[in-house]
Amino acid sequence: MIKSCVIGLSKVGVIHCESLLKLKNTSLNYIFDKNYNLSKRLSKKFKCNTSRDFNSILKKKDIELFVIASPTTTHNFYIKKLIKFKKRIYCEKPITNNNKNLNKIKNLIKKHKIKFCVGLNRRFAKEYVALKKKVYKKKINYIQIVSRSANHNIDLSIRNGGLFFDKGFHFFDLACWLSNSKPEKMIVISKSISSEDFLSKGDFSDAVINLKFRNGIVVEIVFSRKCRLGNFEKIKVRGEKFSLDSDKFSDKKTLYDDFSVRHRTSYLNCLKKFIKSRNNLLMNEAILTQKICAEALKKARHQ
Ligand SMILES: NC(=O)c1ccc[n+]([C@@H]2O[C@H](COP(=O)([O-])OP(=O)(O)OC[C@H]3O[C@@H](n4cnc5c(N)ncnc54)[C@H](O)[C@@H]3O)[C@@H](O)[C@H]2O)c1
Repeated sequence: MIKSCVIGLSKVGVIHCESLLKLKNTSLNYIFDKNYNLSKRLSKKFKCNTSRDFNSILKKKDIELFVIASPTTTHNFYIKKLIKFKKRIYCEKPITNNNKNLNKIKNLIKKHKIKFCVGLNRRFAKEYVALKKKVYKKKINYIQIVSRSANHNIDLSIRNGGLFFDKGFHFFDLACWLSNSKPEKMIVISKSISSEDFLSKGDFSDAVINLKFRNGIVVEIVFSRKCRLGNFEKIKVRGEKFSLDSDKFSDKKTLYDDFSVRHRTSYLNCLKKFIKSRNNLLMNEAILTQKICAEALKKARHQ
């Protein structure tokens, strides 16, 4: 049995707690949040331990796996601590809010032989897995990705890296995964279509991004944090003789729900694969994605 601890207990942290309880070979032993009242309340619900002092959990040799689901601004701090204590790490995306830390983190993981996974859980979402299977060995010409959400909290967006890192991370990764390639050209329109409340805090609410991939595939990505119609996420893939829409493979009941409902099982499946794996999972893919996010942000700022 792999004993575990979840750090950060909002929606996504709670989903990870539930997943760790569901999986056969893991147990949820500790939870930790900087809000101790929340930790205390959830430790009763999940029948596990908590503490005001993170270091006391860290020192417990039998707690092998840590899930980092605290804001992105805190990831670098926890990753470094966990590496020192040779823990297995499942880190929510993005890895860090500062790309300057990326190489250091990568080298430490390698040096200390840490098992590390980045939560690129959209790759495990039912509709995208179906889409990927359908396009296997087909020649793709065009991919369109649309992700719109309703009334996103600006401060939350900023804590998690802003539009291009927080929302962008999953979708830049899906574009690379579906195309089996990397972008070589990128055009970003964002400032002119973003709302003033986001812009005044240095973030963006909307973006249209056009990418040309090395293998010739053209990708168009549309992001919005202020969709009046609610939550909306879909992918279209086109080739010469086919056109596929992810909605066809989605659960119609949850199609307009937010990520925590619509993609709930994808978190479980991502974690499950990591637990079974002897190696790192999705680390290099996430490092590439971090670089694409940074490039998109740079272009958005310099429009
Ligand atoms: N994979 C996905 O689909 C997905 C979806 C949402 C969020 N995320 C990622 O999950 C992480 C958390 O995002 P969120 O939106 O839940 O953030 P959040 O700001 O709501 O914070 C999550 C929790 O962490 C706690 N916290 C804050 N600082 C802390 C610290 N220093 N130590 C311990 N706990 C702390 C907060 O009290 C809160 O309960 C981010 O990295 C985000 O990008 C991933």
